[in-house]
Amino acid sequence: MGIGSGDTFAGEPVPLVKILVTYHSLSGNTERMAEAVAAGARSVPGTEVLLKRVGQVVAEDLFSADAVVVGSPVYWSNMSGEVKTFFDNWQFKFGVFPEFKMKNKIGAAFATGGQVSSGKEVTMLTILAAMLGNQMIVVSGGGAFGASATTEGDSPGIDNQELADAKALGRRVADVAARFKAGSAK
Ligand SMILES: Cc1cc2nc3c(=O)[nH]c(=O)nc-3n(C[C@H](O)[C@H](O)[C@H](O)COP(=O)(O)O)c2cc1C
Repeated sequence: MGIGSGDTFAGEPVPLVKILVTYHSLSGNTERMAEAVAAGARSVPGTEVLLKRVGQVVAEDLFSADAVVVGSPVYWSNMSGEVKTFFDNWQFKFGVFPEFKMKNKIGAAFATGGQVSSGKEVTMLTILAAMLGNQMIVVSGGGAFGASATTEGDSPGIDNQELADAKALGRRVADVAARFKAGSAK
């Protein structure tokens, strides 16, 4: 069962949780998943969600978030260059190191790829690896490493199960972030 603002956790009121859902998408598939992740997170009471393309994220978006969920299309079995540039900009634009300014934020990943077994899990794992390198606390949901969708072939686009997985990831992130924030507010 999830918790949200207005509930109590270990006897303490649960504070408002802010979640940044950010993604790169050229042909709309990863954007649809991002919208579903955002909807899942918003379904947890007390959660505020900011949905933005990676190139539009500013320092305040990143640092005010309790949780960051990053989505990428698979490009050559890995995250796209724009998503990698986004992570590189955590240092070049936002100066996260050496203070580890992202430390203890919750992180999660989602991905879309054209084919089965062509890099979605590697893509999610490399997103999670970048988060781990920043001392974030990574969680999964909707799948073993995050939510993902196969977008080409017999059934192009995103199907209902994939959308449900994306929503489940958003709910999980919101729930874990609320529990962690409530616990660390003591
Ligand atoms: C340059 C490029 C490389 C790609 N490489 C892969 C790949 O290695 N594996 C895969 O499954 N799909 C690959 N794709 C397909 C995309 O990952 C897929 O169409 C994805 O859903 C696109 O997301 P978008 O609609 O959000 O842009 C590639 C697409 C492009 C443009």
